[in-house]
Amino acid sequence: MPSVPGARSASTRPRPDSPALIDTFGRVATDLRVSLTDKCNLRCNYCMPAEGLDWMPDTAVLSDDELVRLMDIAVRLLGVTDIRLTGGEPLLRPGLEDLVARITALEPRPRLSMTTNGIGFAKRARAFAEAGLDRINVSLDSVDRETFELITRRDRLRHVLDALAAAREAGLEPVKINAVLLREVNEHQATDLLRFALEHGYHLRFIEQMPLDAQHGWDRSTMITAGEIFDLLSTEFTLTPSPAERGGAPAERWLVDGGPGEVGIIPSVTRPFCSACERTRLTADGAVRSCLFSSDETDLRMLLRGGASDEDIAGTWRATMWGKLAGHEINEAGFAQPLRPMSSIGG
Ligand code: 5AD
Ligand code: SF4
Repeated sequence: MPSVPGARSASTRPRPDSPALIDTFGRVATDLRVSLTDKCNLRCNYCMPAEGLDWMPDTAVLSDDELVRLMDIAVRLLGVTDIRLTGGEPLLRPGLEDLVARITALEPRPRLSMTTNGIGFAKRARAFAEAGLDRINVSLDSVDRETFELITRRDRLRHVLDALAAAREAGLEPVKINAVLLREVNEHQATDLLRFALEHGYHLRFIEQMPLDAQHGWDRSTMITAGEIFDLLSTEFTLTPSPAERGGAPAERWLVDGGPGEVGIIPSVTRPFCSACERTRLTADGAVRSCLFSSDETDLRMLLRGGASDEDIAGTWRATMWGKLAGHEINEAGFAQPLRPMSSIGG
């Protein structure tokens, strides 16, 4: 692991003999995020450039067998209880329904969710529910067709709205929406999004924009903060703290107009929730990362393809997580954005 100076780095004391993904700050990772591909069929301008990126070569991407083996190790040997499939866009992975069925057949069975842009999901929703998928989070930053196209560079709003409806129809509830607000683009549509979500019974969460775009264009001065999101919503709604337990979940939850409708605000940058983080991450090319913002990662693909045993792989995964830093350092002087963009780590 890196030797990063300061109290935020992991201590050098030896790791106690625990099967779980513990770290030196007392956290236990039980929530695994798996990126299935770095490709995407949208081009959200806060994520990637119009021309896309140099995608990972197919030979680098883990096969279904390799992914299932790693997820089996995670749930059987490492105490992972929740798995979330992400991308890029996970639906672009061929045969995803079969992979979902294989994951939900693992023992102990993990809870399984997916973060998706929803394109093409509507006609597959039932098959995913039958394969055992429990829930989805759909990314949607605007319910106005022109603004949606301005942000994603594609005229696909209808597909996303259909995905939401189909998810609910298939019983994948609660259906969650993730939204990012961008200054002078969709900031004044925050209340439109919330009204839409309340009308349909979807759970909306706003996420502060993080410095994870491939173009390195993030700028703190133009980021819409959680405080601003609260104020924008308060122009039309009365928000009071939700009595629901936050636990390791990053969203600060608010009751809307006395409830039962709620909205979440995720203050990733201005009020980081790193001390309650329960996550471990796997990239599509087989690297384990202890954090979105890690400056290093551990290659498991080489072990997988080199004949390592399940215990060897589990041990390497544990050692990586033991080195997890206290938190991201976006608010520290000298912060450096990770080399991988969001689309190749997974949300
Ligand atoms: N900051 C915050 N959220 C982001 N997402 C993508 N890039 C960023 C960023 N830089 C969101 C997407 C999607 C999820 C995977 O993460 O909108 O909802
Ligand atoms: Fe695709 Fe998600 Fe990036 Fe948008 S934010 S371009 S949907 S990976």
